[in-house]
Amino acid sequence: MADAAANLLAGGLVAFPTETVYGLGADACNEMAVARIYSVKGRPADHPLIVHVASMGGLGDWADDVPGYAISLARDFWPGPMTLVVKRSGLAGDFVTGGQDTVGVRVPDHPVALGLLEAFVRAGGKGVAAPSANRFGNVSPTTAQAVSDELGEYLADGDQILDGGPCDVGVESTIIDCTGDVPKILRPGAITAQMIAESTGLAVVRVVEESAIRVSGSLEAHYAPAATVVLDQSPVAGQGFIAMADVAAGEGVVRLAAPKTHEEFARVLYSALRAADEQGLETVVVAQPQGDGIAIAIRDRLKRAAFGSANS
Ligand code: TXA
Ligand code: MG
Repeated sequence: MADAAANLLAGGLVAFPTETVYGLGADACNEMAVARIYSVKGRPADHPLIVHVASMGGLGDWADDVPGYAISLARDFWPGPMTLVVKRSGLAGDFVTGGQDTVGVRVPDHPVALGLLEAFVRAGGKGVAAPSANRFGNVSPTTAQAVSDELGEYLADGDQILDGGPCDVGVESTIIDCTGDVPKILRPGAITAQMIAESTGLAVVRVVEESAIRVSGSLEAHYAPAATVVLDQSPVAGQGFIAMADVAAGEGVVRLAAPKTHEEFARVLYSALRAADEQGLETVVVAQPQGDGIAIAIRDRLKRAAFGSANS
C-alpha cells in the first residue's frame, strides 16, 4: 500500500479494486497524472472524474457548501457504492471536474481501496481521481485480469494494477447530484432511490437517462462489449445468454450467467459480457431483471450496452 501510494504521489497510475468496479487512479491534485488517465482510457477531456477519499473528512477538502442531506447520505452509506456531486472547493481543478463547478466524491468500501487511500493520505495526498479502469465506452472491469486486458498495452512501466479479487457489487456507484434542494440521481446503482429517501427524509428526483429513442449516433456506446447485445428476446443456438437461473435456455445456446438474485446478476454481468467476447460470440441475449432495487441500475447499463452495439 505504501509503495502504491508513493507511486501515486510521484505521478504514476494505480488501478485498484473497489466494491463496484476497478478504478484507474491518479493523484487528483496532479494535472499531468490526471491527463494520463484520459489518454490511457481514450476518454474525452471534458468528462469529469470521481475523487476517491479515505473518509468523510475528505468531503470537506474537495467540497464547499455541502447541504445537510448530503451529510446524512455520507454518514449512512460511506464507505459504499455512492458518489456525491457537490459544489467544488478550490482544491478541485478544472482538469478533474471537466471544467464544471461541481465535483464527484466517493469513499469506496473495499479493504484494498481504503488501505491505498489511507496510505495516500499518510504520505500527504488529498484524493485519488479514478474512473472505471476500461477503455472509453467499454464494459467496466470487475477483476484485475479484466483491467490488464483493457489497459495493459496503454499503461507505462511503473504503473500498477492492484489485485483485490472480483468486485462484490459489480455495477458502478449511484451518482447523486447534491447541488439542489433535493437529491437527484444521475446514475442508478446499489444505493437506491428508496434508501436515499429514507436517509434524507426528502423526495428523490430520478433523472431520466438519455434514452435510445434519441437520434442514432447522438449517443455514445457505453458499457458495451464487442458482441451485439440484444435485450429480452429468445436466444437461438450459438448466441450467448444471460438471464436469471429460473429462465431456461434452448439447445445450443451458450449460457454465460444464471444468477439466482438481482445482486448476483449485477455482480456477474460485466464478466459475463466479457466472456461473450472471449468466446468470440457475435450476439449475446440478456433477459433483463424486473422490478426496482439494483435491477434499475442493471437495466440502465444494459440499455446503453445494447444501444452501443446496435451502432457499432
Ligand atoms: O463505482 C464507481 O463510481 C467507479 C469506481 C471506480 O469508483 N467509478 C466510475 O467512474 O464509474 P467513471 O468515471 O467511469 O464514471 C463516473 C461518472 C461519469 O459519467 C461522470 O460524467 C460522472 O460520474 N461525474 C463525475 N463527476 C461529476 C460531476 N461533477 N457532475 C456530474 N457527473 C459527474
Ligand atoms: Mg466508466
